[in-house]
Amino acid sequence: MTKTGIAAFDLTGKRAVVTGAAGLLGREHAAALAQIGAEVILTDIGETALQAAQTELAPFYGNRIRVAVMDVTSEASILHLADQVGPVDVLVNNAAIDPKVTAEGGGLELSRLEHFPLEEWNRQISVGLSGAFLCARIFGSSMAARGGGVILNIASDLAVIAPDQRLYRKLDLPAHEQPVKPVTYSVIKTALLGLTRYLAAYWAEQGVRANAISPGGVFNDHPAEFVERLAALIPMRRMAELSEYRAAVQFLCSPASSYMTGQNLVIDGGRSII
Ligand SMILES: NC(=O)c1ccc[n+]([C@@H]2O[C@H](COP(=O)([O-])OP(=O)(O)OC[C@H]3O[C@@H](n4cnc5c(N)ncnc54)[C@H](O)[C@@H]3O)[C@@H](O)[C@H]2O)c1
Repeated sequence: MTKTGIAAFDLTGKRAVVTGAAGLLGREHAAALAQIGAEVILTDIGETALQAAQTELAPFYGNRIRVAVMDVTSEASILHLADQVGPVDVLVNNAAIDPKVTAEGGGLELSRLEHFPLEEWNRQISVGLSGAFLCARIFGSSMAARGGGVILNIASDLAVIAPDQRLYRKLDLPAHEQPVKPVTYSVIKTALLGLTRYLAAYWAEQGVRANAISPGGVFNDHPAEFVERLAALIPMRRMAELSEYRAAVQFLCSPASSYMTGQNLVIDGGRSII
């Protein structure tokens, strides 16, 4: 019988893989899935950070939390993990390089479009976009072959709006030395929405659903001045708390969203509506 209502938020007996899971939000996504019964494999390139994540989550979720090194830029690494863990029902494409906006001043500001290095463009795209494609291809193909599964791509509010570069302005620097949010972030996050729609349509008849979330910025001890500037752009006048994406991840990765595919859930305190 089909589960309805709150009972549909149940992943007992299901296996999930989260990429970039040793980071700030990845751990949270892993906890969200474990909380509703899934066995979760946290994957990342950082072994020490992965161990720390396991130490943090295992007291709550016991042996439903597993960790494994997996580099999303390496097809061999993904295939190796896929081989080791067995059937995967849920994939969360979360890994990304978040280009920090910092400026030393007094030189070429490499974050700016005029100087942004091609190598950096390629490096970030290989993690945030090609990595998501490779994981979707490898895990999604076997989901389709087995009759179903779920892919969740972690985009950003910057998938639906352009960065407001005033957020990063440094008072003491001339215009051409001002640091900016690099072009890569917008391109990668927007492209993930295209990937989401493509996968959703491609595998709909095989029972594989693909959706995205577009989170706004999570407060993580940012400088007060930055928080103030950002809050002024957000109707709810604050950044997100870490736990505020948990329910969305549970909804989109479980049968609670069984008739939803190819969509992007924007959770940004209203930033993108004004
Ligand atoms: N933190 C936010 O405010 C925010 C807002 C919107 C969207 N996001 C998105 O959420 C996701 C997680 O963000 P976060 O803040 O937790 O970032 P984070 O930097 O804390 O975590 C990213 C993780 O990805 C891992 N990673 C990097 N390269 C990898 C590779 N080649 N293979 C596997 N893993 C790799 C890193 O080791 C790191 O643990 C990202 O996609 C980010 O763009 C974050």
